[in-house]
Amino acid sequence: MKNLTLMRTVLVYLLLWLHIGTTIGQLPTQSSPALRRLLSRLVTDVDSLFKIVKLFKSLNHNSASSSRTNQDIVPIDQIIEEAEDPAASIKAEPSYIEKENAFKLEGDIMMTVDQFTDMQTHISFDLLEDAVAMMLNTTDRITSVQTLMNEISAGARSGRPSSRVKRAARRDPNRLWPDAVMPVRIASSGFSAFDRWTIQRAMMRISEQTCICFRIIDNEVADSGIPHVQIVDGSGCSSYVGVTTRSRGRQNSQDLTLNSKCRTFRVATHELLHALGLFHEQSRPDRDFFVKINSSNIRSGMERNFQKFSRRTINSRGIPYDYTSIMHYSNRAFSKDGTFTIEPIPAINRFWYLNIIGRSTAMSEGDVQALRLMYNCPSTPSTQPTCADYPYMFPY
Ligand SMILES: *[C@@H]1O[C@H](CO)[C@@H](O)[C@H](O)[C@H]1NC(C)=O
Ligand SMILES: *[C@@H]1O[C@H](CO)[C@@H](O)[C@H](O)[C@H]1NC(C)=O
Repeated sequence: MKNLTLMRTVLVYLLLWLHIGTTIGQLPTQSSPALRRLLSRLVTDVDSLFKIVKLFKSLNHNSASSSRTNQDIVPIDQIIEEAEDPAASIKAEPSYIEKENAFKLEGDIMMTVDQFTDMQTHISFDLLEDAVAMMLNTTDRITSVQTLMNEISAGARSGRPSSRVKRAARRDPNRLWPDAVMPVRIASSGFSAFDRWTIQRAMMRISEQTCICFRIIDNEVADSGIPHVQIVDGSGCSSYVGVTTRSRGRQNSQDLTLNSKCRTFRVATHELLHALGLFHEQSRPDRDFFVKINSSNIRSGMERNFQKFSRRTINSRGIPYDYTSIMHYSNRAFSKDGTFTIEPIPAINRFWYLNIIGRSTAMSEGDVQALRLMYNCPSTPSTQPTCADYPYMFPY
């Protein structure tokens, strides 16, 4: 903690110094050429200056929004693990949940059996693709190999030879909510007024920062068969990623489970972002350039929680890897003995972000950007949501 304060102080001085430097640089007659050269060299590295400013802002923001030091914030993966009913505890991951006919992985992601199988296939394809790319090393051939593998993938999924039409229909990679509106309903019992208020607040914040709307529906509307998210009580905190509804009687819904331990603004936001289509940041296909996974420190049976997802499953949309994402797990996630399982790399990132990951209490700029790109939000954000049901109020 002392270190963080010290770093911040140093940053303030550095920024002040750079700022003064720029000002002096604009007044060439009043400074010696040697000084100007020195100062201009300092300010030419705009990129690193930009990074410093950003980092400074994020440090400042984190302390301002929580009024606590980062070290005191419980890692989100720990909250999620502790919310799990010990009787149904996730011993080995991914675990098959018979009731839902789905898999639970990484503590809080639900996947239908089909999605899970697809994901595994995709990962093997990525590996194969990389190997082939390395061997052939020509882009046109890589493209044809990719096409071939897409055909195989579509064929494998349908169990029949693939047709282009079928593939296009199946290809809905992010399963986004149509027109950026997620219909949502909350279980009629088990949620206090405060719980509801907390969840509503998380939903409102998402609408305020993106173009995504929530539509609050009641039982009657749900009975019309509209695909929707049903917020329920249960073991753990979990959600499917993107639209994964299934028919249940007259209704067509998917569960977003919030145990009483996860009814906070922070965890509700995390699970809502899963439901909107975001995976965990440390599962990104390019994550090995940004974090080191130390598998010897992972609890036995939990290794699969650190699977890197396929480029076919996660589309990062050119957004830089974001250590401050609310979707990032912490440095000791699923650790067997408190040693590090996820460490930012290289050393400079480890220095800055080791204790930042897994401790964001709200959406980061990268999270907002990801949602905005996914849902094709207009480039100039509106400050006031135009959602029909905003501000959100669950009916009683
Ligand atoms: C592909 O070939 C180019 C030039 O022939 C080389 O510079 C590059 O490193 C190669 N890439 C791989 C992945 O082998
Ligand atoms: C993994 O962590 C252990 C214990 O903290 C350490 O000794 C080891 O060097 C680490 N391995 C890697 C590859 O960093």
